[in-house]
Amino acid sequence: MRSSIISSLFALVGFVLFIQCSNSKPSRGQALYETHCGNCHLNNGQGIGTLMPPLKNADYILENRADLACIITNGLEGEIEVNEITYNNPMLPITELSEVDIVNILNYIQAQWYPQESVFSISEIKDQLENCN
Ligand code: HEC
Repeated sequence: MRSSIISSLFALVGFVLFIQCSNSKPSRGQALYETHCGNCHLNNGQGIGTLMPPLKNADYILENRADLACIITNGLEGEIEVNEITYNNPMLPITELSEVDIVNILNYIQAQWYPQESVFSISEIKDQLENCN
C-alpha cells in the first residue's frame, strides 16, 4: 500500500516536470537568437533583401562552419556571397555573449535550419575563438 502511494507520487512529480519542460517556452538558444540576431537576420532566418544575408539554408554557413563563432564575436566586413547574392554591409561585433551563449545560438540555428549537420560543442567553439583570423 505504502509503496504504491510512493510510486504514484513519483509518477505525479514526473508528470509535472514533463509538462513544465514541454510547454512552449522558447529555448535559451531561441531567446538569445531572437535578441541578438533576429533584428537583422529576422526571426525566421530569411534576412532582408540584399541588406541582411539569410541564416536559413545559407551556403555560406555550410562552407564557413569553422568561422561562425568568430563572425559573431568579431563581426564581418567586406563583400561576401550567400546563395549567389552579394552582400557588403558590415556586421558589428557582438561582444556580450559568452561561449555558452554562442553554442546555444549556433545550436538553435543548426536545429532549425541545418538538422543534417552535427551539433556544436563547447570545445569546438572554444577552439574556433582561439583561432580567429
Ligand atoms: C545589426 C545587424 C546584425 C546583427 C544583429 C547580426 N548580424 Fe550577422 N550579418 C549582418 C550583416 C550586414 C552581414 C553581412 C556582412 C558582410 O556583408 O560582410 C552579416 C553576416 C552574417 C553571417 C555570414 C553570412 C551568412 O548569412 O551566412 C553570419 C553567419 C551571421 N551574420 C550570423 C549572425 C548571428 C549568429 C548573429 C547573432 C548572434 C548575427 N549575425 C547578428 C548583420 C547583423
